[in-house]
Amino acid sequence: MILAPSILAADFGNLQRDVEMVNRSQADWFHIDIMDGVFVPNISFGFPVLEAIRKKAEKPLDVHLMIVQPERYIQAFADAGAAVLTVHLEASTHLHRSFQEIKKAGMQAGVALNPHTPVHLLEDILGDTDLVCLMSVNPGFGGQKFIERTYDKIKALDAMRKAGGYNFKIEIDGGVNQLNAPLLLAAGADVLVAGNFVFSASDPLATIAGLKAL
Ligand code: DX5
Ligand code: ZN
Repeated sequence: MILAPSILAADFGNLQRDVEMVNRSQADWFHIDIMDGVFVPNISFGFPVLEAIRKKAEKPLDVHLMIVQPERYIQAFADAGAAVLTVHLEASTHLHRSFQEIKKAGMQAGVALNPHTPVHLLEDILGDTDLVCLMSVNPGFGGQKFIERTYDKIKALDAMRKAGGYNFKIEIDGGVNQLNAPLLLAAGADVLVAGNFVFSASDPLATIAGLKAL
């Protein structure tokens, strides 16, 4: 299991402290949420903050673009140090081309689905993706309630993965906690993003260790 704490829930006034906490922890990736105020109602942060995170981060950056026309920024995020670059299906007119460009730029290519988007829309692209991110909340904000329907989506996607002999990772993003995490893993998830559950905990290091022990 890959655990990716979401920096959106960090204390931006103590960003270095929180990045170093993740470095010291058993977490695997940094999950970085980029929001443009158009694709989603919220604006998070952009390149200057990402550069600051990158300077201190000692683990791969898993960058989740919640922006329109994500293809415009593929090279910029490669230059900013992204290891995984995930674009939304709903924001992509030419997803296959975006995957090619993301890989050419040296990154792993991911696609994210909003809660209302059925997994079967990915049927013709599953052989080209490294990661499918299923949103288990409506993208835009941390700290929201997990949408239960996600379990069925994971199972359906995992069945498509097995049937096709693919090896992309299934990532779950939104409302992940210690109670639903084991069920998500059992359904077929490989990567769990956790924002508020980690950063609002009184002991984030122990919280990360608890999730990794599942
Ligand atoms: C939501 C973001 C998530 C968010 C998760 O739009 O994509 O990555 O940070 O936060 P929690 O775990 O608090 O739901
Ligand atoms: Zn995210």
